[in-house]
Amino acid sequence: MREKAIVFEVNERQHCTTIPSHRTLLEVLRALGYVDVKCGCEKGDCGACAVLVDGEAIDSCLTLAWTVEGRAITTVAGLGNSNNPHPLQAAFARNGAIQCGFCTPGVIIASESLLRKTPNPSDDEIRFALSGNLCRCTGYTKIFEAVREMVLTRSGGVLR
Ligand code: FES
Ligand code: FES
Repeated sequence: MREKAIVFEVNERQHCTTIPSHRTLLEVLRALGYVDVKCGCEKGDCGACAVLVDGEAIDSCLTLAWTVEGRAITTVAGLGNSNNPHPLQAAFARNGAIQCGFCTPGVIIASESLLRKTPNPSDDEIRFALSGNLCRCTGYTKIFEAVREMVLTRSGGVLR
């Protein structure tokens, strides 16, 4: 089994670690203690494991850890926490978009990735951006409303 030494950043903290080359980023992040990154299907179907890599949302279960050498990763805990929530996290709480919470880290990461690229997305663009995230609890409406509220707030009340 081949091993690789890699250096990468998670939530602005640098890590230098040696890993077997077949390990996924999901496995490595959780082993390092980033258990806010959820392990769902491990097949790229549910989106629960999503993280930002240099600002772009990816499924960490489909990413070999060595490929993030030198890159900056943000997990949902890197966006905010219960004492200092990110505006999206606050919007999800206000809109009742969190029930069991298992899908929430991935959904918030996908939403943040969308809003960084497209600050004023249309309803269809929001739905498309979240189409890779499965939720068994909310029926998706509350999640959609939370993201829409963020768009509305940021755009000063002007929706596309
Ligand atoms: S655990 Fe990665 S997409 Fe489901
Ligand atoms: S809130 Fe339970 S899976 Fe989405």
